[in-house]
Amino acid sequence: MSSPTELAHLHTNIDLPALGHLQRLMASWGMLADLCFADLLLFAPVTEGDGRADGNKFVILGQMRPSTSQTLHRQDLVGRLMDEVDRPLVVRAWRLGEIVEGEINATDRGERARIQCIPVRWQGQLLAVMTRESALTVGRRPGELERVYVETFDRFARMIVAGEFPFATDDVEGEESPRVGDGVLVLDTGGRVEYASPNAVNALHRMGIHSNTEGMRLDEAGMEESAVRTAFATGAPVTEEVERRPDVICLMRVIPLLDGGEVTGALALLRDVTDLRRRDRLLLSKDATIREVHHRVKNNLQTISSLLRLQARRLPGGDGRSALEEAERRIRSISLVHDILSREVGERVLFDEIVEPLVRMAREGVLSPERGIDFRVEGDAGELPAEVATPLALVLTELLQNAAEHAFVGKREVEGAVTVRLHNDGETLTVEVRDNGVGVPEDFVIERTDSLGLSIVRDLVSGQLGGVISMRRDDGTVVSLEIPVAGREGRRA
Ligand SMILES: Nc1ncnc2c1ncn2[C@@H]1O[C@H](COP(=O)(O)OP(=O)(O)O)[C@@H](O)[C@H]1O
Ligand SMILES: [Mg+2]
Repeated sequence: MSSPTELAHLHTNIDLPALGHLQRLMASWGMLADLCFADLLLFAPVTEGDGRADGNKFVILGQMRPSTSQTLHRQDLVGRLMDEVDRPLVVRAWRLGEIVEGEINATDRGERARIQCIPVRWQGQLLAVMTRESALTVGRRPGELERVYVETFDRFARMIVAGEFPFATDDVEGEESPRVGDGVLVLDTGGRVEYASPNAVNALHRMGIHSNTEGMRLDEAGMEESAVRTAFATGAPVTEEVERRPDVICLMRVIPLLDGGEVTGALALLRDVTDLRRRDRLLLSKDATIREVHHRVKNNLQTISSLLRLQARRLPGGDGRSALEEAERRIRSISLVHDILSREVGERVLFDEIVEPLVRMAREGVLSPERGIDFRVEGDAGELPAEVATPLALVLTELLQNAAEHAFVGKREVEGAVTVRLHNDGETLTVEVRDNGVGVPEDFVIERTDSLGLSIVRDLVSGQLGGVISMRRDDGTVVSLEIPVAGREGRRA
């Protein structure tokens, strides 16, 4: 499927600024389709071999269906080429530069339709023809609403012919922009309410305005009307949020109606966005709550860590004391990962940010400061989900600590080196911690060890991480981990 820009480049000689005008029209024509209860199509003249458009053949750049009525065209017509046989009135309107109306066989099934062809002008230049097409047989029994809407559409149609609509400065309509179905006020030259649609009356009621507003200015009815005043003064549309009572919020979009450059009235679309705003606020406060919880967890971890440290200091050196010191170190590495995770927006974290401080911790923990051990990180673990990052950080803490603590005991002849190698191919994360120390004993089997540090490592790797671990002698000790990471997106917040 081609975009309007592609179609225009392919079939027409419309330049970019002019195309901008057509795109602004198509960005705001949902409202027009709703006002006239009909399908809208945009026809642009096709250039022939000599590079000129003679106005006999047109390409359909866009199509819009009404949400207030049935559609005539069930099929997608964008990109179709049509000529005088298909749409004689489009050709007429193009030649005359005026609005032309009539009846045609509009669909492939030969259904009769009412068609109005509206030339689209911009800076005095004819760009395209917009058609309004509806079946003869359907159509709502015309009541006041239908009459007012169609009259308003006709005013927009005249503005399109005169090049006054769409507005050059038009702010882009967002998701939330009020639509015709939300509520319509038609304002007269003096900004007084000429007509209020039933949904607009409901919206006004919710804002506590119970009087009949017809003939009144909005501020007389008790509603903020600065949007109306700005739209009348500037001749350009204005969207504003109106908070009438603290618990009711309306979005109001005021679109001035012009005639020969003069503002002759306005269309105001009203939408009650109270529920939307309430949800926004709820989300915001949820965000704040999560941040607060992170903060408290962090404080608690820090408290635990300092309690353990205090208690360790009170013990004479020995097993008890080093056990407490190790526990303190483990808590500290959890707290480190938590801290980094809570700063991230999502559930994933760049693991490199975690590795560096873990290595620093191990370096600082080296018992005999007179001997230097060179800690080094190679490769890159990439982004990891929280459920991998936290246990992996604990595992690395243990392995680095072991290297610092055991690898170089009684081995003074070499320069100590510990290398962490990381590689992530999207499927598997491989981690290798290698040292050039004394090496684990020949008969060492990690599955059978019952010391605390390596038991923690083993359980985390095969349990929480679902990976495998091996530990062997190779000019020192080499620990290898393989952890599956594919499809782990992290839990959603
Ligand atoms: N990198 C290493 N180099 C030499 N020996 C090691 C290494 N890592 C572990 N070991 C040996 O394995 C034992 C068990 O380690 P661990 O379970 O962490 O307990 P701890 O560190 O408390 O002694 C250590 O006491 C040590 O003898
Ligand atoms: Mg250990």
